[in-house]
Amino acid sequence: MDLERVTGLIAEESKGMNEVIVSMQHINKSFPGVKALDDVSFELRSGEVMALLGENGAGKSTLMKILSGVYTRDSGELYIFGKEYADLSPRLAREAGVAIIHQELNMCRHLSVAENMFLGRELRGRLSLRNADMEREARKYLDELGVDISPRQTVGDLPVSKQQMIEIAKALSVNARILIMDEPTSALTSREIDDLFKIIRQLKAQGCGIVYISHRLEELSHIADRVTIMRDGQYITEGNFSDFTMDEIIQNMVGREIKEKFPRVSCKKGRKVFEVKHLNAGRMVRDVSFDLYEGEIVGFAGLMGAGRTETTRAIFGIDPKESGEIILNGESLSINKPMDSIKAGVVLAPEDRKKDGLCTKLSVRQNLALPNLDIICNKAGVVRSGEEKELCDKAIADLRIKLPDTEVNVDTLSGGNQQKVVVGKWLARNSKVVIFDEPTRGIDVGAKVEIYNLMNNLKEQGIAVMFVSSEMPEVMGIADRIIVMCDGRITGELDAKATSQNEILKLATAFENKIISADDGK
Ligand SMILES: Nc1ncnc2c1ncn2[C@@H]1O[C@H](COP(=O)(O)OP(=O)(O)OP(=O)(O)O)[C@@H](O)[C@H]1O
Ligand SMILES: [Mg+2]
Repeated sequence: MDLERVTGLIAEESKGMNEVIVSMQHINKSFPGVKALDDVSFELRSGEVMALLGENGAGKSTLMKILSGVYTRDSGELYIFGKEYADLSPRLAREAGVAIIHQELNMCRHLSVAENMFLGRELRGRLSLRNADMEREARKYLDELGVDISPRQTVGDLPVSKQQMIEIAKALSVNARILIMDEPTSALTSREIDDLFKIIRQLKAQGCGIVYISHRLEELSHIADRVTIMRDGQYITEGNFSDFTMDEIIQNMVGREIKEKFPRVSCKKGRKVFEVKHLNAGRMVRDVSFDLYEGEIVGFAGLMGAGRTETTRAIFGIDPKESGEIILNGESLSINKPMDSIKAGVVLAPEDRKKDGLCTKLSVRQNLALPNLDIICNKAGVVRSGEEKELCDKAIADLRIKLPDTEVNVDTLSGGNQQKVVVGKWLARNSKVVIFDEPTRGIDVGAKVEIYNLMNNLKEQGIAVMFVSSEMPEVMGIADRIIVMCDGRITGELDAKATSQNEILKLATAFENKIISADDGK
């Protein structure tokens, strides 16, 4: 075969693949007080997964919101499939083949799954909406993702992981050719992540270009073809994923070297501070008993949906308890609402920051001050602004929260910085027990270390820390003791330093394994 023919064949073969389908050049975007994007360029090719990486607040979501028409850029050029777009509305972007799965789930909680999936593009008959058709379509995409949800279910009743799967199904249902996934896996179980990756590979094979934003760097090796790295609103570098080591990626993201990913401090284990005895609350909290000691971090491992969040909610007084006892320093507490718990000194940084953790319409200052009003108000109930400022400044400095000033609405912060505000609220209080539910979700590598340091600080101050996390490496790296839950029950307790991922996984799937072996025996 002559050379010309071979190159011709290769060109033919790669047609539709590897072609630049998105080109963004010299993009600038400012918000009041922040230059979110500073001369950023970005390219996406067909048939590839481009990982877009950077610390919290680097500008990743902003760049992708510009590509999907949610934000308008201040300047710069934007081409989609070679066509230049001077103004891009969400609708134009959708017509051009762009779909985005937003980082902060943006669903109408009171509507059904199908209604959410077809919001703004409802299938209409002559007289009414074609509900049955929409439900059938929704079912098709949910099945494809292997998600067991009825299209008729109300979205607000579903856990975050399921809501995230619906967002993904919604993006698939518009037949996107450019699919942006902003932190799609942050609330998914490992099985759901596997299903998602399968779908990503299928879409790639069909020639879709996928932009993939994630702070879970370990998952990149399964899917990323190329990476673009940003820092502080600027483009830093891009290249083939395989040409970078993980350390190089991290260094480009944070601009410095991170020596220790899991800094552990050793403390003397002190007195027993907190006891939970035979707690029952709904199907997912069955006879849960454990103790927390001064000077230790207790990790709660398990798969998503094991009942850990439900346990924290029952303790904190969000959900009602059926039975059981909660004891702090030898005294039995009566916690019927979160305020009872906060007053007693038991606080929770919850998992779903948008729903439970933050008042999104209030400023960062108000969010930080709100649970601490009893500390910062004078006797007449008026806020002492000096104390309030001190409290805010301390939280912002301790956690390196990135923001223009404390008066901005908390929902203008980048996802990770919002998470830091959730944690920052509790720093000022003299709490005795601090419960963190997935505190590092959506947080960049550098900020993760800051959150670990914060937990370590609490531990050193003799505060008992309960640390719920689905990421085994961090539970193993930071906790002293690990309690594993499965299906609403505690299935075992392990010494963090002596255990292995396998051992945790075995306990985390204790009941599943039983079911499997029972099936085998048939
Ligand atoms: N609507 C908005 N109003 C004001 N400022 C905003 C708005 N959206 C983003 N910003 C600011 O722009 C900067 C970039 O934010 P962006 O959300 O793009 O970061 P990110 O890279 O997605 O971070 P993360 O990993 O935390 O999600 C941040 O400083 C953020 O506070
Ligand atoms: Mg973001």
